[in-house]
Amino acid sequence: MKAIRAHGPGDPGVLVLDEVPVPEPGPGDVLIRVHAACLNPPDWYARRDFAMFADEHFAGQGRPHVRFPWTPGSDASGVVAAVGPGVTGFAVGDAVFGLIRFPGLDNGGRAYAEYTTAPAAHLARKPPSVDHVHAAAVPMAGLTAYQYLVDHIRLPAGQKVLVNGAAGGVGHFAVQLAKTRGAHVVAVASSRHEGFLRDLGADEYIDYTATAAEDAVRDADLVIDTVGGPDAHRFLATVKDGGTISPVLHGDYHREEAARRGIQFRSGQVHSDGAQMAELAALLADGSLRAGIDSVYDLADAAKAHERAEGGHIQGKIVLSVP
Ligand SMILES: NC(=O)c1ccc[n+]([C@@H]2O[C@H](COP(=O)([O-])OP(=O)(O)OC[C@H]3O[C@@H](n4cnc5c(N)ncnc54)[C@H](OP(=O)(O)O)[C@@H]3O)[C@@H](O)[C@H]2O)c1
Repeated sequence: MKAIRAHGPGDPGVLVLDEVPVPEPGPGDVLIRVHAACLNPPDWYARRDFAMFADEHFAGQGRPHVRFPWTPGSDASGVVAAVGPGVTGFAVGDAVFGLIRFPGLDNGGRAYAEYTTAPAAHLARKPPSVDHVHAAAVPMAGLTAYQYLVDHIRLPAGQKVLVNGAAGGVGHFAVQLAKTRGAHVVAVASSRHEGFLRDLGADEYIDYTATAAEDAVRDADLVIDTVGGPDAHRFLATVKDGGTISPVLHGDYHREEAARRGIQFRSGQVHSDGAQMAELAALLADGSLRAGIDSVYDLADAAKAHERAEGGHIQGKIVLSVP
């Protein structure tokens, strides 16, 4: 089969199309004929062997290293081509999607390929009304937003929720999932995303290139911040005393000042979960959730897709179509 591989760390150009054996599904696994795979930030972090992160980033566990040659990709949508021993929930011919083996050794499920294996427990049935490109766009970013709002935050109804980085993968799903829980959503993004975010249900939109969020909002119950960084503490001003900040990645939030104001922090690491994928599938099927597609590339053009990703300002998700 054809698969994208990197034979060592580096720029997008290290991603080449190779001929490799079709993998065998082990116990509890299915073999998926991949129709679409999706890019996520860990794909390009791992492609560079995590060289952009300081050791402290990995909370005492040390910087991970990728074993090359390596095939990226944790998000896949496709059709079950074979089932391994002990699999009962899926049969050959089922259309499935999921976040595969994440977090895990070698950073996920090797989905940039014509075939990949996946634990059946990480998959759900793809809704027939959603095509493979839109389904592949969901797993990691959709599960991150879902696990934040449902597991970490347990968002009550009727809250004012500010989403920073609202047009990106995690952000655009967080906007929609917060709306399904009756939130009033303020979306913060750069200028070109206003129509996209209002169409997804954002009640207010702040173009951060014209207005600083901390000058416009003072009474959010919750901030979901997918941007982080050294000036993340400016979002303290947007939250009520006793409110919540949910960092999706590292930032300097001036935690002592936050503690004085009773502001809590809720966050976590996204992980594979087939049952939660089924929840997302139900929302996709009834139209209350949809994936925004920034761009679609052929599998063979994975290097170009990574160049697009590293250019930033992504609107939704970047997907690889696997012919
Ligand atoms: N905790 C976890 O388990 C977990 C899970 C998934 C992702 N993450 C991390 O979360 C981050 C976001 O992931 P993602 O997949 O959503 O990334 P993404 O798709 O690249 O989206 C990032 C978004 O942020 C926007 N942005 C950039 N600078 C901004 C700024 N100063 N203010 C507001 N928006 C800004 C970008 O567009 P515009 O600038 O054009 O608005 C873009 O839409 C990544 O660093 C990823 O590693 C963590």
